[in-house]
Amino acid sequence: MSSPANSSGMLSGPPVSRWLGFFPEFKTDSLGYLLRCREYGDVAKLPMGTLAAWLLREHDPAMYLLNNPADVRHVLVVNQDNYTKAPIPPVEARVFGRGVLHTEGALHHRQRRIFLPYFHGDHVSSYAGLITDMTVEVTDSWQDGTTIDIGHAMTQITLSVIWRLLFGQDIGTDARTVTEAITTGQHLIKLQYDSVFARLMPLWIPTRLHREFSGGHRRLESIIRRLIRARRSAPTQSQDVLSLLLAATDPEGKPLSEDEIRDELVTFLLAGHETTANALTWVWCLLAQSPAVRARLGQELHAVLNGRLPTNADVPHLRYTKMIWEETLRLYPPAWLLHTRVSRADDTLPSGAHLPSGARVFISPWSLHRNPQWFPDADRFDPERFSPEAVVHRPAFSYLPFGGGGRRCLGESFAELEGILIMATVASKIHLELADEQPVLPDPLMTLRPRHPMQMTVSRIDAHHPSSA
Ligand code: HEM
Repeated sequence: MSSPANSSGMLSGPPVSRWLGFFPEFKTDSLGYLLRCREYGDVAKLPMGTLAAWLLREHDPAMYLLNNPADVRHVLVVNQDNYTKAPIPPVEARVFGRGVLHTEGALHHRQRRIFLPYFHGDHVSSYAGLITDMTVEVTDSWQDGTTIDIGHAMTQITLSVIWRLLFGQDIGTDARTVTEAITTGQHLIKLQYDSVFARLMPLWIPTRLHREFSGGHRRLESIIRRLIRARRSAPTQSQDVLSLLLAATDPEGKPLSEDEIRDELVTFLLAGHETTANALTWVWCLLAQSPAVRARLGQELHAVLNGRLPTNADVPHLRYTKMIWEETLRLYPPAWLLHTRVSRADDTLPSGAHLPSGARVFISPWSLHRNPQWFPDADRFDPERFSPEAVVHRPAFSYLPFGGGGRRCLGESFAELEGILIMATVASKIHLELADEQPVLPDPLMTLRPRHPMQMTVSRIDAHHPSSA
């Protein structure tokens, strides 16, 4: 990797607008911009401009983009206590409340301790049957030769799964209300990230988006609070997240309040289904573009499953399926940019770069994953990069779709189980082809999704070769 500093010993970055800093170029093409910044060495400095300096009353406010895995490890793991998450826009704060994704310090530790045992080992694998059932329920209705919106279909499956994980019951007719509320919320949150004016505009100003958001938010709140109250008044033996939260206590031994439980449930609902749905959507796109990989996947599924549904016991044998999942998360990491970190005190990174106190740090799985130094011919889809022999030659933190350190994704094992089982269930029965020739472009919203709904044509293997199904 190149040096962190230019010849004058200063960190450098691409030229920026004097008044608006790096924002205009970043807003226009965030993904391309992050890749271009790699030219400036281990750490690229991205000044925020004079306007931000006035508003923030800081001398030289800047974002620092880390391109070196050792620096990333330092910030996320080695010296993680020196870094907090940056403040979030008002709408995001209102939606997530004080759920585990957005808290810090002792409270965050306590929250993670509640969830860690739940998201490990046998407990996660006990959901295998549910995941395949939900997948079959959605895909059984796909007729041979028809065209489907694959992103929508993957969201249907992962939303049904997360709802059962959280509440132990089917989402049923609430699915539409929940999806609409989430979509509107995401648009408004994204707008508030992109525009200081949108961030400052109070919600009571009745713009169309504000009205839609407030309505959707109210409806989602009422569904979730109704479920919490119903379970409180009639407890069940259910092993879901709601039961876990109702049984949890704070350090004084007091049960969690309804607001605390609501915040965690909404956090898991939002963090835990769209990410996985987007990853799976990219899986189908990449497979459709790579017939050789698709054929090899078919061979593995035939050898391991021979037409039956996958179970948890099959997962360790679906090695190539897992490599496809990992390679997809490399090329299209749903969390394309981690939450901005802010340094509490000055820090010197392993690359030698110096970060001042209050530095805002960008860590982008998208740009790290496309670095040709660790991933030669980085834009090419090649699951072999995740063979055990290939993985050992790469440094830690050159690949981090689930983040790292004390804030590493809590749902990683669950997401992986879902990814592998949904891929195996669908791909052993169905071939999916892209319905049009247009290039599929990624759109970096809250998660990395395709810019336009991805239409795919269904070809049922079981209809053409009944014996192989
Ligand atoms: C492919 C799917 C997924 C991806 C790529 C993903 C990615 C991530 C990443 C990168 C972070 C860390 C963010 C940061 O440090 O700024 C994170 C945090 C988190 N994820 Fe996931 N996630 C996925 C699925 C899930 C699922 C299925 C769940 C729950 C069932 C979940 C729950 C969480 C939670 C609660 C956190 C916050 C952890 C903390 O701050 O302590 N995620 N996820």
